[in-house]
Amino acid sequence: MVIRRDLAATPPPAIDTVFAEAILRRPDEWDATDRNALAYSEEVIGELEVADVVVVATPMNNYTVPATLKTWIDHVVRIRRTFASTPEGKVGMLRDRPTYVVTSAGGYHAGDDALQPDFLTPYLRAVLATIGIHDVRFVALQGVTRGGPTRRSAPGPRRSPPWINGWGSIRRRPPDQRPGRGTQRSTSHNSNGFAQESYVQTSDYRPRWLGLFTGHGKAPRGGPL
Ligand SMILES: Cc1cc2nc3c(=O)[nH]c(=O)nc-3n(C[C@H](O)[C@H](O)[C@H](O)COP(=O)(O)O)c2cc1C
Repeated sequence: MVIRRDLAATPPPAIDTVFAEAILRRPDEWDATDRNALAYSEEVIGELEVADVVVVATPMNNYTVPATLKTWIDHVVRIRRTFASTPEGKVGMLRDRPTYVVTSAGGYHAGDDALQPDFLTPYLRAVLATIGIHDVRFVALQGVTRGGPTRRSAPGPRRSPPWINGWGSIRRRPPDQRPGRGTQRSTSHNSNGFAQESYVQTSDYRPRWLGLFTGHGKAPRGGPL
């Protein structure tokens, strides 16, 4: 079973004052307005709670997560619901599960060619850990808007070709934890041109997947993606 959330096509509702007040009240204090304000939050937390595997595909926007993904995070990372505040700090309340984060960036933020900071990877790692998700593997696609041979041969500093970091760590995972086993992935584009990916189970083991997609362009071509 695959639950898909295309946050670019259907953005989460903005965080407003009503929501900010509702999350501070206890469930027995909620009125109809609070319940309405928290409805989307409850829905996406519920999806996360049942997911055995989570896949997040996100571009880097201005060095960090796109606003749509940040808003989804604000709906999911909720005090007394997905994390507890303790004297030792925040403690996650969700169970850990394998989580794959595929990032794409127009330029380079890691390795010898990095010319910009990366607030995307460490932020996602920290915020997922806050709710209890620590088993996180990152796959970084870099240089996706730098073009092919024509662009690389143009005057200016030479750059590496678009590169994918991280698949090694996935390949080294124990066979029964590899996301590719028992699944087939397919990519299509919806009427608005958004890339849509789906995972089809091909074995008896049927984990529940949650896929979050926030990209605005066509899915990257070539390579394992
Ligand atoms: C608003 C915006 C901000 C961006 N900021 C960055 C950035 O800080 N660094 C970078 O390397 N690429 C940046 N990009 C390029 C995107 O990361 C790149 O287009 C994206 O990874 C391609 O994936 P997509 O086609 O699925 O959106 C930005 C793109 C947009 C639209």
